[in-house]
Amino acid sequence: MLGRALLADKPFVRAASRVQFTHDVAAAQAQTVRFSLAAARAFGEEWRMSGTTLTPQPVICTERLVLRRPRLDDAQAIFEGYASRADVVRYLRWRPHESVEDTRQFLRFVGAAWDRGDEFSYAICLAQEDAPIGMIGIHPAGTRVVFGYVIGPSHWGQGYTAEALSVLVEWSLAQEGIWRAGAYCDIENPASGRVMEKAGMTYEGILKRWSVHPNVAQEPRDCLSYSKVR
Ligand SMILES: CC(C)(COP(=O)(O)OP(=O)(O)OC[C@H]1O[C@@H](n2cnc3c(N)ncnc32)[C@H](O)[C@@H]1OP(=O)(O)O)[C@@H](O)C(=O)NCCC(=O)NCCS
Repeated sequence: MLGRALLADKPFVRAASRVQFTHDVAAAQAQTVRFSLAAARAFGEEWRMSGTTLTPQPVICTERLVLRRPRLDDAQAIFEGYASRADVVRYLRWRPHESVEDTRQFLRFVGAAWDRGDEFSYAICLAQEDAPIGMIGIHPAGTRVVFGYVIGPSHWGQGYTAEALSVLVEWSLAQEGIWRAGAYCDIENPASGRVMEKAGMTYEGILKRWSVHPNVAQEPRDCLSYSKVR
């Protein structure tokens, strides 16, 4: 908690066309690492490797996209673009939203999860446009991170998800203490597997009975696992 408090109000800037850190962010990260090492001495190595030092930038620019922290006023675009559509969320772990208020509730949850450091979800926006076309999240899990993503069908097939995932894979593997960037998808969702390959991840095999996708079945489903490691 203390490590995160030290970082709470450091300024960040948008980086042009690729991920960059400002001096302030670099200083903040160094500060966190120092704190982590002190904590490791006090509480043991496992504490240091717990992933609590991950501090993604709130805004990341790629060649064609802006990834930014979602806001409550994104609810309408997200609801209409994909969250209300049963065909789009078929292989996700949640059911379609029934109202914009469902989406607002979800965005409150997403904001709180970011503040706690549990999960960092970005709205995927086209550069020059503010409305989100999708979302991509990084879930820290000790020495690894796990990604999840979705994009609205009117933007499928243009490489946007792979572009967003690539930059977050590279960013994650550049973080101290993170050795694996991984993700999985339902065994019947090959488009998602292809996104992971395009983002530089390697197919690892089938995770039997790994994840419940309630729009398909109540029982856990087999999933395809992909990762990039260092
Ligand atoms: C899966 C999803 C994220 C892909 O997004 P996208 O922006 O269209 O992805 P990209 O354009 O970066 O890449 C898609 C790739 O999958 C390929 N593809 C699409 N349908 C496919 C299929 N049925 N089988 C195999 N490959 C397929 C595309 O041809 C493309 O590969 P290519 O560039 O080599 O031709 C998007 O369809 C989506 O949001 N689906 C619903 C939510 C979801 O399933 N999320 C993943 C949860 S694990």
